[in-house]
Amino acid sequence: KGVGGLVRQRLIVTGAVAAVLALTVPASAADGPSPGAPGAGDSYYPDYGNGGYDVSHYDLRLKYQPKTDELSGTTTVLARAEQDLSRFNLDFALDVKEVHVNGRKAKVSATGSHELEITPAEPLKKGERFSVVVRYSGVPSEVEVGGYTSWQRTPDGGVAANEPESAWWWYPSNDHPSDKATFDISIAVPKGYKSLSNGDLVSEEPAGGGWTRSNWRSGQPQATYLATMAVGKFDVTKSKTESGIPVVNAYSESLGDEDGSARASIERTAEITDWLETVFGKYPFSSVGGYVPATGAGFALETQTRPFYGNARFKKGTDVSVVVHELAHQWYGDSVSVRKWRDIWLNEGFASYASWLWSEKEGEGTAQEIASEVYESYPANDPFWKVSPGDPGAENQFHGAVYDRGAMALQALRNKIGDKDFFKILEGWQTERKGGNARVEDFIEYSEKVSGKSLSSLFDTWLYKTSKPKKPALGGEVN
Ligand code: ARG
Ligand code: ZN
Repeated sequence: KGVGGLVRQRLIVTGAVAAVLALTVPASAADGPSPGAPGAGDSYYPDYGNGGYDVSHYDLRLKYQPKTDELSGTTTVLARAEQDLSRFNLDFALDVKEVHVNGRKAKVSATGSHELEITPAEPLKKGERFSVVVRYSGVPSEVEVGGYTSWQRTPDGGVAANEPESAWWWYPSNDHPSDKATFDISIAVPKGYKSLSNGDLVSEEPAGGGWTRSNWRSGQPQATYLATMAVGKFDVTKSKTESGIPVVNAYSESLGDEDGSARASIERTAEITDWLETVFGKYPFSSVGGYVPATGAGFALETQTRPFYGNARFKKGTDVSVVVHELAHQWYGDSVSVRKWRDIWLNEGFASYASWLWSEKEGEGTAQEIASEVYESYPANDPFWKVSPGDPGAENQFHGAVYDRGAMALQALRNKIGDKDFFKILEGWQTERKGGNARVEDFIEYSEKVSGKSLSSLFDTWLYKTSKPKKPALGGEVN
């Protein structure tokens, strides 16, 4: 008798409601232990993530039955209290059996659509390290939050990959990119199936009844939405990059005819990673790869070390550009993560620009030529120019403007400061911020520091104005 099913509401907590909620939570330490905030303070998604603690590690020990889509197991969260806590929240949507905090049974109730409210037997002290063990099970494809599930069931299994909402359907977390942590993800699957996740495949072992358990480890900090799991009948290929990074790619056996172009694209992963290292600097993680489950999805996602590729991407043939895009995110988005979702340009603008650089290197059109063509393709009265890549709003977080105009912003910067400083900035930025979080403002400040130029008007033009910039603002040769 899980608590999740009883109280789950099919509603989206609006910004206004959550803001009021946040205001009613007392935060004064003088009053003794108080509840952690039910949100991380993100203006786009006020109830995503939580306040009052910081997670250092997630340990997931799961079991998945593809025939019924049943997921069960235990997640252990290691965290540190940032205030005296009477209770705190985790984000989660499946049914919870029980919760222990520091080994003692805790009170748990499901509040709202994706929140667990956990009251430990004893309050937690500011600075105290604590453990939360959550036992749960569910059928993630049947659990809707706000009318949808991001869990994708496939002919041969299931997949967790979406942005920003993905974790709720498979593990409890402080679901906001500002709280990164290391992960151990262990998944047991029946005979004939394979599981995939992020990072290094540490070991595989028999799990009884013909089942196999695979243990995956992400030893570098990872944002919660960048954790992924997939179960299916996968064909796995293994290799190494020139610099010796292990590559693990996987293709569902149910891909059918599309399988050829998916492979022809994703098997370029090692080569693309080697090339990206020459542009951005050392690859930030200890393994790399990509996987294609038979979801039918048209999007790809930069799940850490092992991007997810929707097989519809390869319906019309190979798409190397998307592989460059998702791998570039490993530096920009995964290693250096957004502080708030508003900072999404730091992910999408840079990954998009990486594909333009790839085209330039391949002799298929320079970044300047592509920027110019994309610029011309949107007339001044096109709604495209109404979206500010530097603050697009939650509803436009993945609008084409964040990607295309976001990449144009980088071309304009390159033209203004020259190649030498531009590439110095690209590499220096991700080196300085490795494993951390950043704001758009931080990047602007960093660019000004390295180039010694005032760049506020350039960034204002390309990231914030809601009108089409004049062509000369792009700089470079006008073609
Ligand atoms: N970050 C992803 C990309 O690089 C976008 C994912 C958008 N999410 C979605 N469910 N379509 O393209
Ligand atoms: Zn992207």
